[in-house]
Amino acid sequence: MSVARLTTYNFRNLLSVAIDLHPKLNFFVGDNGSGKSSLLEAIFFLGHGKSFRTSKVEHLASYETDNFVVSVKDVNNLQLGLSKHLHTGVTLIKINGERHARLSELAKNIAVQIVTPESFKLFFGGPKERRRFVELGMFHVKHDSSKQWREFNRVLKQRNACIRHNLDKATFDYWTSLFCQLSEDVAEVRNEYITNLIAELPFWLELLLPSIADKVTVQYLQGWPQKKNLIDALSDSHEREQAFGYSIYGAHKFDVKFLIAKQALESQLSRGQQKLFLLALTFAQAKLIARVNRVKPILLIDDIGAELDANSRESLSTALSVLDCQVIITAIEEGVLQPFINNDSVTNKESSKNKYHMFHVKHGGILPVNNSVKIE
Ligand SMILES: Nc1ncnc2c1ncn2[C@@H]1O[C@H](COP(=O)(O)OP(=O)(O)OP(=O)(O)O)[C@@H](O)[C@H]1O
Ligand SMILES: [Mg+2]
Repeated sequence: MSVARLTTYNFRNLLSVAIDLHPKLNFFVGDNGSGKSSLLEAIFFLGHGKSFRTSKVEHLASYETDNFVVSVKDVNNLQLGLSKHLHTGVTLIKINGERHARLSELAKNIAVQIVTPESFKLFFGGPKERRRFVELGMFHVKHDSSKQWREFNRVLKQRNACIRHNLDKATFDYWTSLFCQLSEDVAEVRNEYITNLIAELPFWLELLLPSIADKVTVQYLQGWPQKKNLIDALSDSHEREQAFGYSIYGAHKFDVKFLIAKQALESQLSRGQQKLFLLALTFAQAKLIARVNRVKPILLIDDIGAELDANSRESLSTALSVLDCQVIITAIEEGVLQPFINNDSVTNKESSKNKYHMFHVKHGGILPVNNSVKIE
């Protein structure tokens, strides 16, 4: 979906917001602490059921309130809503007014990706963020594998419990055998997905980081030593597993490494270049999501001015005009948005009056800027 109307109540400092978004380009400009990241956080929350900056859901409700609501509607009137009551702990998930039990039902309809000024540090900092990134793409692109992934996680939990409680050998062997089979199955689907992602990447690198586009190689690490069967790797590391108390190998331990001339990419690129690289990868993933045609991706970019110089923003604007998805961008100053606003490849395609929506954010209030025209 792309969001036509966004409504939030009591979300951080956004006490009451109801705004109409442009199907393609949206800008939110405001001072530090005005509520820009909170707005992106609200949209992200709807797509993921959690925040990108806190694991404590109670931090999302406005001070001294007990509940918050985020809801969106697309041009076809598909309506998604998520509300949380802190006192009762109840999360209400609604699709077109009907209650649903699972967040994944909501997430099926809205594919939200985000790049913040911190993203690239987290992304290159450890495997957790890279895994999250790939899992999101797979959820939307290879949705059929979601059931397999759930089953894998169920078996992983059982196997970990066997390790922790030192259960009998027959029970342990039963779960280990199931775990190995599912790991192989998951790793195979993931390998397919990552192969497609790697194939899509050079196009976006060519636009955003042409100087390294043909120098990047990507390694997919399946989660256990490449040259070993998982079952052998696990049996060789039995004592270590006992000491740790969980499965140290398996499909949950996968990773993706990015290299330039066999060296870790992050040790060679500047901060701005790392951010551009992550943007290229995010665009590649958005393209794969868009291609399966189930759900149109939404891309959130927080504080677009951070780390990027005018040339980089120019390249980013070109890349965005090629990407067919809804983009929501925040900035502290309107000046940094010039390359995006003046982009001819955007303006030529659409009426010059209707190329983006711009909003000013002030003390949690969001006001459309007059010259950014509403879609009729
Ligand atoms: N639960 C909450 N209730 C009310 N206000 C909150 C809550 N949590 C945070 N805030 C406040 O909301 C304001 C908006 O924060 P936000 O991070 O969205 O600002 P921002 O516009 O992204 O600023 P910056 O440009 O510095 O990134 C801040 O002043 C913050 O202190
Ligand atoms: Mg912010």
